Amino acid sequence: MADGFAQSVKQQADIVRVIGEYVRLTKAGAQSFKGLCPFHKEKTPSFNVQAAQQFFHCFGCGQSGDVFTFVQKMENVGFPEAVRTVAQKCGIPLPKREFSSPEEAQASRLRSRLLEIHEQACGYFEEQLQSPEAARAREYLTSRGVTAEAIAAFRIGYAPDSYSTMRDRFQSSFDEETMRASGLFSSKEQNDGAVGPLYARFRKRITFPIRNEAGRVIAFTARALDNDEKAGPKYLNSPETPLYTKGHVLFNLDKAKQSIRQFEFALLVEGQMDCISVYMAGITNVLATSGTAFTEAQVRLLARHTRQVVVNFDPDTAGANAAEKSIALLIEEGFSVKVVTLDGGLDPDRYVRERGTPAYIAALRSARRHSDYLIDRARTLFPPVTPDAKVKALNFLLPHMQHIPSRIARDEFAADAAQKLAIDSALLRQELKQAAFARRADVSSKAAAAPALSEAEKLLLRALTLPAGDAARELARKRLAQEPALYEGLAASSLLSAFVAAETISNPFDLAPDEASRHWLAAVLLHSSQEIQPEQVEDAFHSLRHSRLERRQRELRRQLAEAEQRGDATSVQELMTEKMTLDRALREN
Ligand code: CTP
Ligand code: MN
Repeated sequence: MADGFAQSVKQQADIVRVIGEYVRLTKAGAQSFKGLCPFHKEKTPSFNVQAAQQFFHCFGCGQSGDVFTFVQKMENVGFPEAVRTVAQKCGIPLPKREFSSPEEAQASRLRSRLLEIHEQACGYFEEQLQSPEAARAREYLTSRGVTAEAIAAFRIGYAPDSYSTMRDRFQSSFDEETMRASGLFSSKEQNDGAVGPLYARFRKRITFPIRNEAGRVIAFTARALDNDEKAGPKYLNSPETPLYTKGHVLFNLDKAKQSIRQFEFALLVEGQMDCISVYMAGITNVLATSGTAFTEAQVRLLARHTRQVVVNFDPDTAGANAAEKSIALLIEEGFSVKVVTLDGGLDPDRYVRERGTPAYIAALRSARRHSDYLIDRARTLFPPVTPDAKVKALNFLLPHMQHIPSRIARDEFAADAAQKLAIDSALLRQELKQAAFARRADVSSKAAAAPALSEAEKLLLRALTLPAGDAARELARKRLAQEPALYEGLAASSLLSAFVAAETISNPFDLAPDEASRHWLAAVLLHSSQEIQPEQVEDAFHSLRHSRLERRQRELRRQLAEAEQRGDATSVQELMTEKMTLDRALREN
């Protein structure tokens, strides 16, 4: 893409409007806006957008850049794609694309034709839902409480009971390559090995378009009207295509992302029908995983919008298994996870419709911490009455405990588990330590690369990660707030200031501004679990003061030598005075 075009897009685009589509911004000054940073978790806005100079900066996580950087980071795309996206958002016509290779050009053409055929197919299915043949489908939807409004919002449609109608209709607009690649049609191999004619993949089914984050239709999932075997699987999905990879999509993300940011959490359900019912009930921050456990790609997709999740999977075995896998993946990525189990064995869809929205909201409010959920699950799977069952329950829980990045949360989980499984807690901690051994070795080898922290810094960090209210923690915070000069310029200064600012901490790693900080934190948290006395905190400050004075003394010696060489008597006089004061302070400290 020509640089000139990017420049001209940048001049025409309004960064405030573009970012405003992703982040709720409020005016903070004549030319500046503030909001909650989309790149890290925060409760008070430190994300700034400057209209005059057209850039953004987050004082919390340090991310900054122009409108293209923003879109690149948000949409996880390269620069050319970001320029195109911004141009489109601002209604700037795109120049003819240039491609580095004929293959790339061809792939891109196929992609846009596939988007086009999916859009057409979606319209076609929507239209078919109004046909006489679809009377049963409409009745079915009504019987399940799907309103006309929901049908319109989710673009629900109907695939007629015919192999050929859709194909005949699409043949005039699309070439065979596009139709085959779309996954909307199938064909059978002939006896002579040649590919047979195309026929419609989805027949006699209710269709739900699957959209990407930008809202473009990229695939379908379609529900059978009948439950008999002849109807095939209950849900039939598009195959993988150049547009669609199943584990990379979150159903409803396009519509939910706004409110996920607003409510600061996402609600995860399994099925499309669950998602639609819950969304139509006004709980719009809901996403469906579409019947599988979370994948890493989905976690990354979600992490761009929130790091807090409430999981509400089906109360059956498949749902519980999917929940466990998803929890593990989310926790490992630093998410905070709560779990809802609905009573009466209902899935979210039926619960909302049978018990009503207020009851469902109450259930969401009573979501349990993921550790409590898992402990209960372990108790159900292996009732801890015999030593053997206890070991099994423990083995079920250990990998989950290991996934927790924070030592404090890990210890808390272990203590709860020990209590509820009636296991000796010292024993459990020992097990956990052994299980965590591999992890620790991994972390400390990485930490070796980061500059070393002084013992005082380590002790303070350790104190700061203690639970709110701990005397040592509060003392450390108070002192650091009083004397910010003490840690200015230290290796861990930004990490320390993050802790000073944090009233409460759910995950200390959220406060780590960079990789080195994460390593320090991991090293500090994985070491000694002894309590810290307030006197130790005072000692650490004493040592910080002392080393600060020593640094200043070294600096003064250098400045004095320079001033003498220049023959600058005034400066020498001033520096000497300061040095004497400093020498005295050093003797006394
Ligand atoms: N699913 C699938 N293929 C199937 C069955 C299910 O892909 N053969 C996926 C669908 O995304 C579905 C989800 O798994 O939404 C959950 O499955 P299930 O609980 O059976 O779906 P429900 O939402 O309960 O379906 P319905 O309410 O329509 O019966
Ligand atoms: Mn279900």
